[in-house]
Amino acid sequence: MNIILLGPPGAGKGTQARLLVEKHGFVQLSTGDMLRAARTSGTEMGKQVAAVMDRGDLVTDEIVIGLIAEQLDTGAGAKGVIFDGFPRTLAQADALSELLTGRGARLDAVVEMRVDDEAVIRRISGRFTCDRCGEVYHDDTKRPADPEACDKCGENKFKRRADDNADSVRTRLLAYYRETSPLIGYYYAKGQLRSVDGMGEIDAVHTAIESALRP
Ligand code: AP5
Repeated sequence: MNIILLGPPGAGKGTQARLLVEKHGFVQLSTGDMLRAARTSGTEMGKQVAAVMDRGDLVTDEIVIGLIAEQLDTGAGAKGVIFDGFPRTLAQADALSELLTGRGARLDAVVEMRVDDEAVIRRISGRFTCDRCGEVYHDDTKRPADPEACDKCGENKFKRRADDNADSVRTRLLAYYRETSPLIGYYYAKGQLRSVDGMGEIDAVHTAIESALRP
C-alpha cells in the first residue's frame, strides 16, 4: 500500500508514519529526514538547502523529487511506502504520480491529518528526538519511560531541530497554507483523500488512520 500522510508541520506525520512502519512493515520516506541527513553528512546539496530549511521555506521541487525518485529506485518499499512530508506542492504531486506509474505502482490513499494551528505550535515547541534512531518525543505528551534512554534503542542522547523556533514555525505554516493545502482539494477531486482528526492522543489518531485505510 502506498500512502501519503498530509498535514501541517507538527501534525504528527512522522509519529504516525513510524507506527505504521512498525505494524505493517511499510517503508517511511520522509523528505525532511532525507534533507537533514544530507546536511549532517555535508553534501553539496545539504549545504545548499541548510539556510532554506532553517528559515522554514520549501526546498526546490527538483531536489525533493530527485530524492524520492532515488529512493523508489532502490526497490525499498515492496510492502508499501508512507510518504511523509512529500508531496508539498502541486508540481511534486504530479511528479509523484508519474514516478509511481512509471514503476507500475499506484497511490492507494492520502490521509489528511487535521490539527489546529495552536496545537501545531505546542507540539513543535516541545518536540525532541532520539539522536540514534529518530524516535519522536514531546516534553509534555510523550516522554521516554527512562528520561536518560530512548524507549526504542536505549540511546542516551536526544536532539532538537534547528527549525523548531517561533520564526521558522510561522514561515512553515505559511508555506503549508500557500503551497501544500491545495493538495487537499487536488486529492479530494481524484477520490483519494481520507481525512482524520489529528487532535486526539497518539494512539487514537493511529486507530483513526488504520480505519481510514480500510477499503
Ligand atoms: P519536515 O521534516 O517534513 O517537517 P514538517 O512537515 O514541518 O513536519 P514536522 O516533522 O515538523 O512534523 P510532523 O507532522 O512529522 O510531526 P511529529 O510527528 O514530529 O520538513 C522540514 C523542512 O524540510 C521543511 O520546512 C522544508 O524546508 C524541507 N522539506 C521537507 N520536505 C519537503 C518537500 N517535500 N518540499 C520542499 N521542502 C521540503 O510530531 C510533532 C510533535 O508532536 C512531537 O513532539 C510528537 O511527539 C508530538 N505529537 C505527535 N502526535 C501527537 C498527538 N496526537 N498528540 C500530542 N502530541 C503529539
